[in-house]
Amino acid sequence: MRLILIGPPGAGKGTQADQIVQRYGIPHISTGDMLRAAIKRSTKLGRQAESYMDRGELVPDNLVIAMVMERIAQADCGIGFLLDGFPRTLAQAKALDAALDEARMSLEAVVLLEVPDEAIVERITGRRLDPVTGKIYHIKFNPPPADAAARVIQRSDDSEQTCRARLARYHAETAAVVPHYEAQGLLRRIDGSRRPPDVTRQIIDALEG
Ligand code: AP5
Repeated sequence: MRLILIGPPGAGKGTQADQIVQRYGIPHISTGDMLRAAIKRSTKLGRQAESYMDRGELVPDNLVIAMVMERIAQADCGIGFLLDGFPRTLAQAKALDAALDEARMSLEAVVLLEVPDEAIVERITGRRLDPVTGKIYHIKFNPPPADAAARVIQRSDDSEQTCRARLARYHAETAAVVPHYEAQGLLRRIDGSRRPPDVTRQIIDALEG
């Protein structure tokens, strides 16, 4: 099963991806996580990506496309994958189409999580991550348990100012990916403003119903 999960920053892609990959037993490929790991290891890619991410801008297409193509060619992706946060531009979507065509593979669905802009800033600025388990929490909507509360951290690009820049990039560039997949009949629109388990249920119904 080859799936794509797109939506604005803070729409709940990471939260929902955890549920989807568990259900279908496919690898979770998050370009944001891969880029943050590259920054932590201080690789050439990480050093190139860091300033863009800190400003809330998109990392250049050539860097991200090469990173994803290398990842989906790995053996564990033979059974499928869930792409989270990719493609984010029309050029990325077309590069993915070409790679899948060449490999005679196709996408099952593109899940779009829709959340109004007003809700995004509160979700992003309240997000906390557990560096030990990788779990995603929110100070109001999903507070960390007592044993994790002291160690949770905030992402460096989760300030209100950077969040607004990311949202602007989403509307300026990533929104163009939506009609691309709608025209292919692959798009599944999901109301991401509901409670996380309700969002998961909608996604499963859209994929299996
Ligand atoms: P990335 O890491 O992909 O960030 P993003 O798309 O901005 O998405 P987030 O990770 O912020 O949010 P999410 O949708 O996963 O939400 P979450 O589940 O955490 O990218 C970061 C940067 O990397 C980009 O800005 C760019 O620079 C670069 N990059 C990445 N991919 C790229 C690409 N393809 N091309 C170019 N550059 C790229 O939830 C958010 C919060 O809300 C959490 O606290 C959660 O607990 C809470 N929450 C979740 N669901 C709900 C709900 N239903 N109700 C209430 N609260 C909820």
